Amino acid sequence: MSLTRAACEALDRDDPLAARRDLFDLPEGLIYLDGNSLGALPRNVGVRLSAAVTGEWGRGLIRSWNTADWIGLPARVGGRIARLVGAEADEVICADSTSVNIFKLAAAALAMRPGRKVILSEPGNFPTDLYVLQGLAEFAGDVELRTLPADQIPAALDDQVALLLLTQVHYKTGRLHDMAGLTRRAHEVGALTLWDLSHSAGALPVDLNGCEADLAVGCGYKYLNGGPGAPAFAFVARRHHEAFRSPLSGWMGHARPFEFVDAYEPGQGLARALCGTPPVLGMTALEAALEAFDGIDMAALRAKSMRLGDLFLDLVEARCAAHGFAIACPRDATARGSQVALAHAEGYAIMQALIAREVIGDFRAPDILRFGFTPLYVRHVDVWDAVDRLVLVMDQGEWRDPKFHQKAAVT
Ligand SMILES: Cc1ncc(COP(=O)(O)O)c(C=O)c1O
Repeated sequence: MSLTRAACEALDRDDPLAARRDLFDLPEGLIYLDGNSLGALPRNVGVRLSAAVTGEWGRGLIRSWNTADWIGLPARVGGRIARLVGAEADEVICADSTSVNIFKLAAAALAMRPGRKVILSEPGNFPTDLYVLQGLAEFAGDVELRTLPADQIPAALDDQVALLLLTQVHYKTGRLHDMAGLTRRAHEVGALTLWDLSHSAGALPVDLNGCEADLAVGCGYKYLNGGPGAPAFAFVARRHHEAFRSPLSGWMGHARPFEFVDAYEPGQGLARALCGTPPVLGMTALEAALEAFDGIDMAALRAKSMRLGDLFLDLVEARCAAHGFAIACPRDATARGSQVALAHAEGYAIMQALIAREVIGDFRAPDILRFGFTPLYVRHVDVWDAVDRLVLVMDQGEWRDPKFHQKAAVT
């Protein structure tokens, strides 16, 4: 493809997903490349939430648990997410946060592999994954968390390992793991796998059952567009439902929560993965947001995502060569998720200057600029314009302005 704005406009005209952008309420003139961190607002969410607040809560009050089926939200929203990650509807439940779900599923995995005391992961995995595992190991007392670089993981899988926990798409570099191959290798030694799909769900086709994955978790507020702090999801393959026990055995996971008996008894299927009362408004927002995926061709989504990422990198290579950026993600689009990463010693200030020019990405310490390409609403021409503005920020040294060097709490 020739690298011109007109060529980008032509790609947008031919884009089978182009109409999906109208489902989102994006500010005019702003280029949003951070849907990998917080998805944009789907237009139907405000309408749906307003009806839930004024009608279901305001008028229906407590009756809405039944009349609006609030109680069915975790399974219903989970069922919608299941379609996006290659699972059956009853294998995914919407609940809690990703961090809490990691704890529940990792603890359950340890109990499902008695006698095995090792959890394997990789250094540089998303901090919450490692922190929760560290906490779990400390709590369990005799469990060891081993972290090894990705290329050493296949050889490190042995009969001591209870669980392999990896994030399928790395939060910083966007590198994509071979979920099928690593799951197969884990199963050869009798270990279970827990995949963090926070940067995969809604970003690329995921085939949990095709890979025979055991367990998975993921975020509701990134590519699924459920809004800030949206509830997360948990997947447990059906073959494990019977053996699965949540360490957070709250009343919502009980077989009969409204009998109020003293003794805990796990609920049917994945209902047992629930803990407490679901955040109804958050789940309602997520349920509405997921409609943006109705009828979506995930192969077309993936093709566009790879094209956008490649276009960005091609343009950065062609136009920013003098400015000291290093490409910090796989150059091969098939080896990365739906984001790209650039490394630069002045990355924080450069990103702030870019945001001042209405191109929103983010920064991850120590030196990574992340750009997420959400194929539902990012256009090829946005990529062109984003790099155009990056060139201005660099050529004119805008990032040198002291105001761009003051670190905010959230980067
Ligand atoms: C890979 C990964 N896991 C988990 C999380 C966040 O988990 P939580 O929603 O519990 O804060 C993130 C957030 O960026 C993430 O990138």
